Amino acid sequence: MDSIPSKLRHLLNYAVLAPSTHNTQPWLFRVSDKTIDVLADRSRALAVIDPDDKSLVMSCGVASGVLAMALEAVGFQFQVAHLPDSSEPDLISRFNITSEGERKDDWKETLNAIRLRRSVRAGYKNKVFQESELESILPKNLKAGCQIKLINSSENEVSVLNAILEAENFRQADKHYVRENASWINPIRRRSKDGIPTSQEKMPTLGQLWSPDAIFNQKGERLTLVGVFESQGNRTIQWIRSGFLMADVLVQASRMGMSAAIINHPLHIPSIYNSIERVISEGWTAQIIVRFGFAEHAPVTPRRSLLDVMLHPGFNT
Ligand SMILES: Cc1cc2nc3c(=O)[nH]c(=O)nc-3n(C[C@H](O)[C@H](O)[C@H](O)COP(=O)(O)O)c2cc1C
Repeated sequence: MDSIPSKLRHLLNYAVLAPSTHNTQPWLFRVSDKTIDVLADRSRALAVIDPDDKSLVMSCGVASGVLAMALEAVGFQFQVAHLPDSSEPDLISRFNITSEGERKDDWKETLNAIRLRRSVRAGYKNKVFQESELESILPKNLKAGCQIKLINSSENEVSVLNAILEAENFRQADKHYVRENASWINPIRRRSKDGIPTSQEKMPTLGQLWSPDAIFNQKGERLTLVGVFESQGNRTIQWIRSGFLMADVLVQASRMGMSAAIINHPLHIPSIYNSIERVISEGWTAQIIVRFGFAEHAPVTPRRSLLDVMLHPGFNT
């Protein structure tokens, strides 16, 4: 029978399938007898696009959330603490395993949903999207000051989508941004097993992917729906918790065959952020925007090998 650490190591194969900003996979894992640590790998930071490491930290929160789902599915009970040790600021989440029980009845469905989840890159199918189906999977209770707000009034939806397009125009005028983006969205990334290994010409433009025209089909039926993850406060802990919650929502959506495109550009530009702030809950901070729908086709992005993302206990690098 496999030892607990070897089972935990095996489950990291699921954690690394989490979405991350530009597929930088900015995480490291440390497994010991009964703990798993998720650490931020700041050497993978995007200096221009994400100067405060917000998306980097949020990506580690998403990986922690996916790991939590995989652990639960196969029967591990655990306690998870975020930022548990102030002397180790890169330690994002610590999982203390308290016991090992039976697998959940739907463990295979959960692990498959983690495996099949993909970001939408090539547009949406002409398949009707039922908002009620999405609502049925959303966490009912407020999770530690983070939630997702669905933007289902057409007027607000269009204003969020327009803010995204405006933010993209703004950033395309910044040559440093364009260069950094191009280095991560590049065919050569196939070799490093990170980033998005395609050329930008082959991808739909951001304007196509986030176009307000894709909300409804020609019959007026809904095809996509925008949601904003929002939090009370805007500190590192809320970035992590927003990512953790996003993992739950994206994996549950994947179980129902839905995908989501993810973006946060407009949230970093104060003049554009105002138009997002108007449509979210009063006094809350928007953390990240997603657009749900059924993906036209969903190319797989690569992942680095587990060996490259694991630390050995007792060593920090
Ligand atoms: C915090 C965060 C920020 C992201 N920001 C963007 C974004 O601005 N634009 C985009 O197209 N995708 C964004 N993504 C999606 C990633 O590009 C995607 O997760 C990554 O390429 C891996 O692909 P996959 O989700 O299909 O596994 C983001 C994901 C996360 C977790």
